[in-house]
Amino acid sequence: MLLGNSEPMVALRALLRRVAAADSTVLVQGESGTGKELVARLLHAWSARAGKPFVAVNCGAIPGELMESELFGHERGAFTGAQAARKGRFELAGRGTLFLDEIAEMSPPLQVKLLRVLQERSFERVGGSETLVAGARIVAATHRDLEQQIELGRFREDLYYRLHVVPIQIPALRERGDDILLLAEHALRGLDAAGLGRVRLGDGVAGALRAYRWPGNVRELHNLMERLVIMHAGGTVQLRDLPPKMRESQGEAPPLAAAAAPEGDGDGEQALQELMQLIADPADPVLPAQGIDLRAYLERIERSLIEQALQASDHVIAHAASRLGLRRTTLVEKIRKYNLRETIDAGGA
Ligand SMILES: Nc1ncnc2c1ncn2[C@@H]1O[C@H](COP(=O)(O)OP(=O)(O)OP(=O)(O)O)[C@@H](O)[C@H]1O
Ligand SMILES: [Mg+2]
Repeated sequence: MLLGNSEPMVALRALLRRVAAADSTVLVQGESGTGKELVARLLHAWSARAGKPFVAVNCGAIPGELMESELFGHERGAFTGAQAARKGRFELAGRGTLFLDEIAEMSPPLQVKLLRVLQERSFERVGGSETLVAGARIVAATHRDLEQQIELGRFREDLYYRLHVVPIQIPALRERGDDILLLAEHALRGLDAAGLGRVRLGDGVAGALRAYRWPGNVRELHNLMERLVIMHAGGTVQLRDLPPKMRESQGEAPPLAAAAAPEGDGDGEQALQELMQLIADPADPVLPAQGIDLRAYLERIERSLIEQALQASDHVIAHAASRLGLRRTTLVEKIRKYNLRETIDAGGA
């Protein structure tokens, strides 16, 4: 069940109802743990295809070479090890729904093949000659920004437009207000029903949960509730029982460990920003008492200067590079490294 009474979730449910009824290809986008798979399953369950199969395939989990046969199947003897013919996911999905999860991870050669299948609505098994009908409705999902992936040359634009017929953006948990508490209570009830026990949330805990940024979204919330039930079954969870990163917003000092958290972690980012303020002027830096993650700090400065140089040169890489005293190729590498979405000018590429 897709829980949530916040405005973005009410709007999402209404959109899903409409879209489920149509047969169009859907592209579901949202941060990790926001409920992309849940949404894909609902689109199927609420559609006229509900009685037919729902087949999911994770495009990131299967190595490139095996993926083609995974999707389209193979005939006996099609390649070494193909001792028997096997149906692929397209065939298994029949006239149901095929969920292409983590579509951004699909290899470029397979992107070409998928595009062709979507255009022609037919395919052949690997090593086969019989043409089979691709009758499944396609729902694709990714946590990445596909337009950015296109700019970086990692995702085909033509495939993107094939998939992007109906885009569905799932809001991050931190944008859902009181839904955070609703989902926490729901998770706790589920854990209780599963026999793990019950906990109550003490003073200030709800506020801390609501204020936290939840980079791992609903999945992170579920995991935390499970941990709390295991640690405190039968009791009351106090503010001090929450992980330090969640108490931070409640007026406690950020722990140093958070600054060293891996890239992309919202907490690490926040702690780093606070440390950068302590250092004050990068031209005359002061090492904060609690220490610093030097590499993350330097990368922050580098990234900011690159962004400024790109802006000042209208995203013409060659010009930005000369502003920074870098070789063009070095700057391109750094743009990739930092996932900066500016267009790389085709001119000198
Ligand atoms: N609105 C919601 N109501 C109830 N449960 C939810 C909701 N959103 C997500 N969940 C639950 O949270 C968990 C994560 O959801 P799901 O696997 O669909 O996310 P995802 O976006 O596919 O994650 P990932 O990017 O990690 O693959 C699942 O257990 C799902 O049932
Ligand atoms: Mg998923």
